[in-house]
Amino acid sequence: MKASPACSLDVHRLRVDFPIFATRDGRPVVFLDSAASSQKPRQVLEAMNAIYTSAYANVHRGVYQLSEAATAAYEAAREKVARFINAPAADTIVFTRNATESLNLIAYAYARTNLREGDEIVLTELEHHANFVPWTVLAKERGVKLKFIPITEQGYLNLDALDELLTSRVKLVSFAHVSNVLGVINDAHAIVQRAKAIGAVTVVDASQSVPHMPVDVQALGCDFLVFSGHKMLGPTGIGVLYGRRDLLEAMPPFLTGGDMIRYVGFDEVRWNDVPFKFEAGTPAFVEAVGLGAAVDYLTALGMQAVREHERQITAYALERLSEVSGVRIFGPLDAEHRGGVVTFTLERVHPHDLASLLDRDGIAIRAGHHCAQPLHQRLGVNATARASFYVYNPLSDVDALVTSLERAKAALRIKR
Ligand SMILES: Cc1ncc(COP(=O)(O)O)c(C=O)c1O
Repeated sequence: MKASPACSLDVHRLRVDFPIFATRDGRPVVFLDSAASSQKPRQVLEAMNAIYTSAYANVHRGVYQLSEAATAAYEAAREKVARFINAPAADTIVFTRNATESLNLIAYAYARTNLREGDEIVLTELEHHANFVPWTVLAKERGVKLKFIPITEQGYLNLDALDELLTSRVKLVSFAHVSNVLGVINDAHAIVQRAKAIGAVTVVDASQSVPHMPVDVQALGCDFLVFSGHKMLGPTGIGVLYGRRDLLEAMPPFLTGGDMIRYVGFDEVRWNDVPFKFEAGTPAFVEAVGLGAAVDYLTALGMQAVREHERQITAYALERLSEVSGVRIFGPLDAEHRGGVVTFTLERVHPHDLASLLDRDGIAIRAGHHCAQPLHQRLGVNATARASFYVYNPLSDVDALVTSLERAKAALRIKR
């Protein structure tokens, strides 16, 4: 076996921060499913615990100290998130439950207000259902047409097709920055610029990019950008919608009720300012504080170092998996243009069976369509296996994956 190359992050040191990696049954946990949801460092758990134990009270309502402290912690988290993606101001950050809710918010509050029958929306063939289904529902309801940027044989977006797709009827372009299946990093800046040139509003699904690489919304120039806290070391139940302030101000609310109002009378309701207009009810403020701690953690590691680590481990995984006969890798074989996601199949073995066999060796991978059924149809397969990496995966996790794959082949008597 080849020796694994050195990592750019001190993975073994930082793994100590993650309680889940304390060895179980004498075996290390080989967790290769961070694209679905990441593990949590104790700094995130402790930040949330500190709120529950010493600063807990509902936010935005109290004039007493505990409530003021909780409110300050919640708003400090918003500022951290804004700085993390270089948003122009904290009030352009709306806290939601997850990326899915953020995309629905845009579909309901922005698109239903602004799109008419005959208008068109451009998506891509590689979208997660979260950036697919809200638009198909809207399209049916309003007579809006959906068009898709195709993928090339290698799994890149075919941007040559954009000129034909971007007609004057296109009012919105929504696409994944990084594919959760093919791993490919799309040229978000180029797509945004070309969409803007025809006056379309742009939505970037950054669920697989913000956790893994530096992302700057002002440099991208996008109108909206969404992601989930739980994929970036943060807790579940907290997501982010970045929006251009003028668009957010012009949009009606998505959900209504308490907190999102300025005034309620028997015959008149006035909305609160952004971002509160979009945060109806008691927000997930403890989770927001946890997300703020995750942002601190990633910032201390350095997002460039995080990206570099994932580039290295992905390159290593592509190399090692290519050596296993019967393995078919999806997406480009070039780690420069990929995030830390490697999707593959093993000839004659269903991905679910493969995942179960690997689990016997303590290796957690995902199998299925990864919420991207249209893309799987395009690839001509029903299901795939997916290994995805994050800051806590040493390169030796790739070795463990390959060894376990070979063992699975032997158990199934697959010779080649
Ligand atoms: C590219 C992409 N978009 C959206 C989502 C949806 O994220 P969530 O389930 O946290 O809303 C995911 C989750 O896997 C994803 O990978």
